[in-house]
Amino acid sequence: MEEQAKVRVVFRPDGRSAEVNAGTTVLEAARRAGVQIDAVCGGEGKCGRCKVRPSGKFSHQDSPALTDEDRRSGVVLACTALVQGDLEVEVLPRSRLGKHQIVTESVERPPKKARPWVRKRYAELSPPTLTDNTADLERVLNGVGWKGYEVPLETLRELPEAVRAGDWKVTATISNLDDVSGLIRVEPGDTSNTLLGVAVDIGTTTIVVNLVDVLTGEVLGTASDYNKQVSLGEDVIARMMHAEEHGMDELTRLARDTVNACIDTLLRRASAGGSRLTEWDVSAASIAGNTVMTQLLLGVRTDHVRLEPYVPVAHDFPTVRGREVGLLMNPNGSALIFPSRAGYVGGDVVADVLASGMHRSKGPHLLIDVGTNGEMVLGGKDWMATCSCSAGPAFEGGEVSCGMRAMDGAIDRLRVNDDLTTTYHVLGGGRPVGVCGSGLIDLLAELYSKGVIDRKARIQDSGSSRTRSSDEGMEYVIETGDRLAGGTGSDLVVTDADLQNILRTKAAIYGACSVLLRKTDHRAEDLSSIIIAGGFGYHLDIDRAITLGMFPDVPRKRYRFIGNGSVGGARLALLSERSRREMRSVVRKMTYLELSVDNEFYEEFSSSLFIPHTDTSRFPTAEANGPHGGAG
Ligand code: FES
Repeated sequence: MEEQAKVRVVFRPDGRSAEVNAGTTVLEAARRAGVQIDAVCGGEGKCGRCKVRPSGKFSHQDSPALTDEDRRSGVVLACTALVQGDLEVEVLPRSRLGKHQIVTESVERPPKKARPWVRKRYAELSPPTLTDNTADLERVLNGVGWKGYEVPLETLRELPEAVRAGDWKVTATISNLDDVSGLIRVEPGDTSNTLLGVAVDIGTTTIVVNLVDVLTGEVLGTASDYNKQVSLGEDVIARMMHAEEHGMDELTRLARDTVNACIDTLLRRASAGGSRLTEWDVSAASIAGNTVMTQLLLGVRTDHVRLEPYVPVAHDFPTVRGREVGLLMNPNGSALIFPSRAGYVGGDVVADVLASGMHRSKGPHLLIDVGTNGEMVLGGKDWMATCSCSAGPAFEGGEVSCGMRAMDGAIDRLRVNDDLTTTYHVLGGGRPVGVCGSGLIDLLAELYSKGVIDRKARIQDSGSSRTRSSDEGMEYVIETGDRLAGGTGSDLVVTDADLQNILRTKAAIYGACSVLLRKTDHRAEDLSSIIIAGGFGYHLDIDRAITLGMFPDVPRKRYRFIGNGSVGGARLALLSERSRREMRSVVRKMTYLELSVDNEFYEEFSSSLFIPHTDTSRFPTAEANGPHGGAG
């Protein structure tokens, strides 16, 4: 067969390139070049987030996602543009996945004494002689005093050299997690004071890995990155659909590659200036992710999670060996996979609960984790109820024309001045590109308090040049085009349609919280604490979120932020036997409410499509501070 000639595609501004066959999409060429382009709809040509300006030989289809300004300036969608010859491609600022502001910290209370499931023991052995010709393995097992452990072939292969290289002074490592145990390593010399593990948070958008000294609990380093699956779709639904259409191998590989790249970075950093660490030094892994990310990592099909009645493949995942999931760790070391409660309440939420400590006190506490889905857990040590709602991608920058992820160039804090101009903070400094979730909350709250929008979030004609009508309805100018990064001339605006999407997201979150409270016969005032987990909460202004009616109007001191509870919980499970037991008991304790068939949820959702709510008595302080000054 005649081989197809390759063409070269160079991406600007970073200069990376790839050689691809003619007919490849520009989006695919970008993936191969290692250039991250935002692709919220996974290449369906719908979201309009993958805008690029190519020069050279290409073909493309027009799309409603392109504006007249885009067409005039040669902008096309990377997912529908086909490479036809050598090409230079400028990725527009809003389409670049820049440096993400990933929340890697969490505030869990570490265990007083680390009790990992791996242990090391040092022994000085007598060398074999003609009168003592005990085999190497038995000699080591006798020396360290461990019997009855499975011995993987890899350990056996390393053994003869290890014992002799150490002149019969060796350190053995055993792993014993649930029913998976084994002698996973024998090293020359005394290495008993170095025993490492990784705690992993596999998020839909980002992945965070901690390298942990499991003897002391010290976090030796943190690495994070976009989940490389992002280029195949924004949310879990898009990923599952991709798996159904194209198979799941690529998704499994991309998640694993991201985790491994993080582990590799951590090992290299930790090796600098000391002895060289390898994947063999990583003896244990504790992994928390939502149900879909967990199943994709494990290579387990996800279509039953997507389709009614939305069931996960397992609540309790079996312990797996590093080798089985291809992780950069000792191939016989065990990886603990956090259990899932439901298709949309996964191990990341269980890890949030562990990190928050809410399962150890009476409460009731309300834990809220907002991403593309919102998950809530209500309760305490005696009972727990949980649910999830489809928050939509608005707070991750999807379905909002000015929206973007929390990365460099995003407005994350914003104030509307009396003359309706804005004052804002841009992540990473410099000029703004768009507005991320916390900035959108500020925007909505500020527009409401200045009377620019009404209770239904409809833009009013203010008489200022900042509000104007367009073909698509009213819009508010957040910033003029000349003050934006890469100034294309277009203003940064928020439209009526954008505001409705943000309003729906806040209504889904509050509606879900209200249903949990109602079904368990509680009121917001009864809550001992409200725990906000996850990256979105990290940048959030609680007062403004309450002003909008997104979170319950209770004294602000009851609010608590735990940051990335998912990696925090994973760390606890890595270090503490008690936390591992609690992890399983939390899942058993949770009663799951399926909101998609719950009429009460729809009532609450509809009532929440107002600022702050149709029942303003639920938001006394928000009303007192809002533009209506308590007038209702
Ligand atoms: S329009 Fe190209 S990825 Fe959505």
